[in-house]
Amino acid sequence: MAKKNSSKLLLSKLSAAEFWALAVFFALPLALTALTALFSGGVPKLLPTRLQTYLSKATSQASADLSVAPKTQYSSCEAHQYTSEIVSLDPLVIYINNFTSIQEAEELIKLGEDDFEDSFISRSTGLHKVSGRTSQSAPLEPTYPLVSCILTRARTFMGAMLQPDESFSIPQLVRYAPKQRYDLHTDFWPQHQVVNDGSGRRFNRVASFFVFLRDNCTEGETYFPAVDVLDRDAERGGGIEKGFGGKVARGEKDGATKGVKFKPIAGNAIFWVNMDNEGRGDRRLVHAGLPVGEGEKIGMNLWPRKFYSE
Ligand SMILES: *[C@@H]1O[C@H](CO)[C@@H](O)[C@H](O)[C@H]1NC(C)=O
Ligand SMILES: *[C@@H]1O[C@H](CO)[C@@H](O)[C@H](O)[C@H]1NC(C)=O
Repeated sequence: MAKKNSSKLLLSKLSAAEFWALAVFFALPLALTALTALFSGGVPKLLPTRLQTYLSKATSQASADLSVAPKTQYSSCEAHQYTSEIVSLDPLVIYINNFTSIQEAEELIKLGEDDFEDSFISRSTGLHKVSGRTSQSAPLEPTYPLVSCILTRARTFMGAMLQPDESFSIPQLVRYAPKQRYDLHTDFWPQHQVVNDGSGRRFNRVASFFVFLRDNCTEGETYFPAVDVLDRDAERGGGIEKGFGGKVARGEKDGATKGVKFKPIAGNAIFWVNMDNEGRGDRRLVHAGLPVGEGEKIGMNLWPRKFYSE
């Protein structure tokens, strides 16, 4: 109380000019530091982590707005509307309803559709065109406000799985016309990849999101032959199809019922974990994009990257 009163007293003794001189004197160094951070693109490490994250988001947002023509009307991130259902605990596979809205899905397609090219497979030896992948892909600029919004949504979904310095690969749209497919594959690399920043750190795709953006097709399910949902789902009131409202069905391989497949439903996503705690890839997450019958399927891959020491 006494302290408050004395500072009040001091302030009241100052003339307006003296007050502003003092204010500028104290505020100037702060303002300069903030401006330097803004214009150098860096954020002082002295600041609390929360603020650092906030500021680096703000600055990357600002530079994105300057460097690219706005291709979307979304200027802020809408609150997510998703709900989630666990499909399998081990390996972890989660079905996410309404991960994007239909409007967001169509907007994401619009952002990338001029850039579709035949899909490649990324390996340590470079990008390869392979016969088992006949779809087309298009990268999505992560700094576009809507793309950045969806990446933030994905990061939030993952909670403690990702550290603040662990980021996502460039999101990829993938488009399948009739008969196009992606044969069985895993999303993780057999060997961790070296980060392209001179640090020598290595990373891998710790998990995957596959988001269905357009679903006006027949077939074209995403199929995981080695993920088995046991009779547990009887508790959900019958077979797996009933339990998951027709979104998930049992698959078939070599004439036998095996694994699960996910029907393309725009806005919904599948999330699965690729790497175990020791940084080993989990082969049970092998999956395929089954051939599309009629129509068109468009999806989006999001790949969170985690650092590994060996
Ligand atoms: C998904 O969103 C639609 C449209 O808002 C809504 O009708 C539906 O109930 C949602 N589904 C789930 C499973 O939350
Ligand atoms: C699917 O939707 C796209 C875009 O609306 C349209 O061009 C295409 O003809 C549709 N295909 C089918 C089979 O409905």
